[in-house]
Amino acid sequence: MKHLVIGASGQVGHALMKALDEAGHSVIGTYFSHSEPGLVHLDMTRRDAVENIFAKEAPEAVWIPGAMPDVDRCEREPAFSHQVNVEAPQLVMAAARPASIPLVYFSTDYVFDGVDGPYLESAPVHPLQVYGQHKVEAETALLAYPQTLVVRPAWIYSDEPNPRNFVYRVLSDLKEGRPIKSAVDQINTPTPAGALVRNALQALIEGHRGVLHLAGPERLTRLALVERIARMAGFSTDSIQSISVGDLPLPAKRPLKGGLISSYARYGISERLEDLNLTPLLTTS
Ligand SMILES: NC(=O)c1ccc[n+]([C@@H]2O[C@H](COP(=O)([O-])OP(=O)(O)OC[C@H]3O[C@@H](n4cnc5c(N)ncnc54)[C@H](OP(=O)(O)O)[C@@H]3O)[C@@H](O)[C@H]2O)c1
Repeated sequence: MKHLVIGASGQVGHALMKALDEAGHSVIGTYFSHSEPGLVHLDMTRRDAVENIFAKEAPEAVWIPGAMPDVDRCEREPAFSHQVNVEAPQLVMAAARPASIPLVYFSTDYVFDGVDGPYLESAPVHPLQVYGQHKVEAETALLAYPQTLVVRPAWIYSDEPNPRNFVYRVLSDLKEGRPIKSAVDQINTPTPAGALVRNALQALIEGHRGVLHLAGPERLTRLALVERIARMAGFSTDSIQSISVGDLPLPAKRPLKGGLISSYARYGISERLEDLNLTPLLTTS
């Protein structure tokens, strides 16, 4: 099967390229601003560029991990967020529709307000910020296409030595001796990128369509998560300070009692934080 991954230069995109290759699929990946060998440039906000890549590559499945996932930037620049997070995925859907090409769109747990999580797929959405509102708008538009699979992960992490990966950022701070402020009142279900994309691929191939929650098996506060990363890597937790989300001057509101669970046990992720190989992160962070 030939896959097109739009946003292959991101954290989920990298994991997807690896998983698809390991599963023996043919794959074309795109970047937007971070050029990488083997990836082709695509600005998915441009209709002509999207149409050209479909015409040239004739993909049989399309993935959209591409997004503007910076929650605070979306709050400050809602028109930009709308263009990338809502309008662009619809351009991709329009290009996929004539040949009924399956489409996987990555959404978020931020579609929920975090009042009484964890949330099942059937829970009503109620986003607190522009990013979540735009993800809901995109989900709604894309789900009108029967070949769409909407995957919702939460707090994605990986073994990738890249500042986009929060485990890498935490380890960099610990190594450099920088103090870390971590919220004790924000709880979520951290999601390993590798298992996320492998299970999403299985769901796609088995014909699962509609909304699917794919998150890790544990529900942790941000503070507990950061402390656990420190202990796993052999660092003291002394430099980690417990704070409340409200203490941080952030433009966008965060869901507090969040997290995702799923009605579809067959796609459940069993991998825990302790299963993460820290070596690539410790040698480079
Ligand atoms: N990270 C999390 O904790 C988390 C949690 C829940 C849901 N999600 C969702 O999961 C998805 C993947 O997140 P991620 O962490 O992999 O994000 P990421 O690392 O920031 O990657 C975003 C990707 O989008 C690409 N992109 C940005 N603008 C584009 C444009 N105009 N045209 C084409 N591609 C464009 C980027 O390309 P360049 O880098 O080359 O510019 C990059 O490849 C997103 O939908 C996000 O909302 C993430």
